Amino acid sequence: MEFRFNVNEIFKQPIVQVGHTLIPQGFKGDRRALWDTLSKVTDIVNAMGSASATAQGLTKPITSADRLRNSENQNLYLLIEPNACNGKGAVTGLLKTGQKGLYVFDRDGHHYHVQAPCILDFYVHESRQRTGFGKTLFEHMLQKETVHPEKLAIDRPSDKFLGFLKKHYSLVDPIKQMNNYVVYDGFFPSVKEMEATNNNSNSPNKNMRGANGLQAQIVTSPYGRYGAPRPACSMGQIIHNQSSAVAAQEPTGESQETPQHQPQQDEAKALEAPPLHPKLDRPQTLSLQTSTDEGMNNIKNDVRHEVEEVEETLKIEVVPKIVDELDKLHISREKEAGEHSSDTPQKKATPSHLTDQGFFDLKFYHNKLW
Ligand code: ACO
Repeated sequence: MEFRFNVNEIFKQPIVQVGHTLIPQGFKGDRRALWDTLSKVTDIVNAMGSASATAQGLTKPITSADRLRNSENQNLYLLIEPNACNGKGAVTGLLKTGQKGLYVFDRDGHHYHVQAPCILDFYVHESRQRTGFGKTLFEHMLQKETVHPEKLAIDRPSDKFLGFLKKHYSLVDPIKQMNNYVVYDGFFPSVKEMEATNNNSNSPNKNMRGANGLQAQIVTSPYGRYGAPRPACSMGQIIHNQSSAVAAQEPTGESQETPQHQPQQDEAKALEAPPLHPKLDRPQTLSLQTSTDEGMNNIKNDVRHEVEEVEETLKIEVVPKIVDELDKLHISREKEAGEHSSDTPQKKATPSHLTDQGFFDLKFYHNKLW
């Protein structure tokens, strides 16, 4: 495809990679040159995207400068013919790849959640098809992204592209997915690959990624909100007939040191070894009232203990002091009275503010005790 400007001034290599910045590799120049280049790259990408859509019979282009700008995980490869158009150069091919999260099924109906490299758009100008340009562009991409053709997921491939994959990479009998993607048998990792990936990886989520980014097992890691210890649930205690002493055994989130859940090993251990926490007895009665009554009794006992302690303190510390003070006051008054009428016999009676046992009667004490 030819353009009104000189393509060779923008693209210096026969195959160039354009990312979401739209700035071609090896660009050098000032701000003005940058704007000029960006405008030309935008024209090229939009024109090639439209041509590809027309060739595939699509109503809307899959590739445009705007879309590319908004997708950071996509790569666009452009095939350039530097000698075409009287040395102005021409753009002959386009190949767009990207990482996508997909749900895919193998032939046996097992489903996988994958983060796979995908072929999103592929086009060679009509005047150059079937002359090997497609293969050149595709091979370049495979090398750059270090991926094998069978590990790619292909978005709605045309018959031409299926023929291309069959001819150059012997990929036959595609597995069509419900999401319109197509994969081949080699896309799914073998059992060996899965085991090797699981054993070799040291990452905490090692079970999550097999070859090709496949997540064979989705394991919830003990991090974040799932790892946070939960407070003891009082309703749980009542239901399980636990006293507050066993509240610490209330199920909580696993700690970070807890090894990953290994279903088969766990099952085997469960058969061999006794459980970590002794199994709690079932409640004798299903009535929740029993547990509630016990709780109320505990509270009553606690309050009774506190009252007894306060009374004891009063007896030992406060009352003797007050009695002492009052005695002194009483003696001084007696002395005064004796001085005024020395002949009146004084009867030593228990002061009215004391009880029979000689303790201070609390009804005469008006200050706060606690
Ligand atoms: N009819 C049937 N098979 C074709 C055709 C065609 N018109 N064109 C290419 N092929 C296949 C054949 O297997 C062919 O081998 P053959 O000529 O011996 O039969 C082989 O591709 C040729 O290989 P290349 O020359 O390396 O590939 P080419 O430069 O033709 O590029 C491409 C292949 C990109 C598929 C090109 O044909 C094209 O642009 N087609 C129109 C757009 C299109 O269908 N793109 C793929 C959409 S799917 C997607 O993007 C995910």
